[in-house]
Amino acid sequence: LKEVTLSKIKESRSINELNQIRVDVLGKKGPITEVLRGMKELSAEERPKVGSYANEIRDAITQAIEEAKTSLEAAALEKALAEESIDVTLPGKQMPQGTRHVLTQIMEEIEDIFVGMGYQVVEGFEVEKDHYNFERMNLPKDHPARDMQDTFYISDEVLIRTHTSPVQARTMEKHDFSKGPLRMISPGKVFRRDTDDATHSHQFHQIEGLVIDKNVTMGDLKGTLEVMMQKMFGADRSIRLRPSYFPFTEPSVEVDVSCFKCGGAGCNVCKHTGWIEILGAGMVHPNVLEMSGIDPKEYSGFAFGLGPDRVAMLRYGVNDIRNFYQNDVRFISQFKGE
Ligand code: DAH
Repeated sequence: LKEVTLSKIKESRSINELNQIRVDVLGKKGPITEVLRGMKELSAEERPKVGSYANEIRDAITQAIEEAKTSLEAAALEKALAEESIDVTLPGKQMPQGTRHVLTQIMEEIEDIFVGMGYQVVEGFEVEKDHYNFERMNLPKDHPARDMQDTFYISDEVLIRTHTSPVQARTMEKHDFSKGPLRMISPGKVFRRDTDDATHSHQFHQIEGLVIDKNVTMGDLKGTLEVMMQKMFGADRSIRLRPSYFPFTEPSVEVDVSCFKCGGAGCNVCKHTGWIEILGAGMVHPNVLEMSGIDPKEYSGFAFGLGPDRVAMLRYGVNDIRNFYQNDVRFISQFKGE
């Protein structure tokens, strides 16, 4: 019995099996108990021999079961540890990290330049009134220059803005000049009814700039834009102003920046003239000041409108404006930013 039981214990693979063996062999109905119970029928001489033999077997089996249990438990723990262990020396998983959109980067860069010069950043409305988008910008209902900005109308009086210029009127009419001059830029989306191609998009971006104070001159405009272009495209840039026309400025100018290297080998925005057109600007039209409650005899100002899409195209040698909104990860992930 002892040998058979010990070998059964050895072969046991679970605590349950061991418990079963204990019950079978040492339990109330087991053979050992039976032997001990039958002791009274033995002679006084045989009794201690049989008793101690039975006890010896019982102790041996009990001990064997305990040992087997301990080693089974140890094995189970080993197994659990092995399964749950973390190998801290394995290389980590690469977490994909997004980047800010290249246009967001450009706009924030331009914002930083102007904030550094004391400008406030103003948010306008993408859904705008005809009144602010056109009339207050000196484009009355029958003005032919409205044709320059093919418009998405929502109703007769409401549209999605064709430029960021309406923010000028909204800011001017609220400004308290007793607290100092007005200096603001306003970045945002604008919309035109254009058929999309490599250089046209129904939706693009502008950054509007406006300064109103006493004695603001064209020299201030030129100096401000020159500083900006040098910060954007390099300290050796210069700018030139060419006469132009916008209804909301008088005089109006087109601003060119001297040629510069763009992203990629041999990429150079210089074509033939050595200049590249970059934005529209001018001295705020007296009508525009007056309509916003500012006396043009006392105050003057300059304004400009810049296209971040165009800046990005020039700087990085992007030749299709649609890249900016198609959001092909292969394109946008190239602009890591800082
Ligand atoms: N709003 C003009 C446009 O979208 C751009 C512009 C030109 C804005 C001259 C100005 C400016 O503030 O002075 O075509």
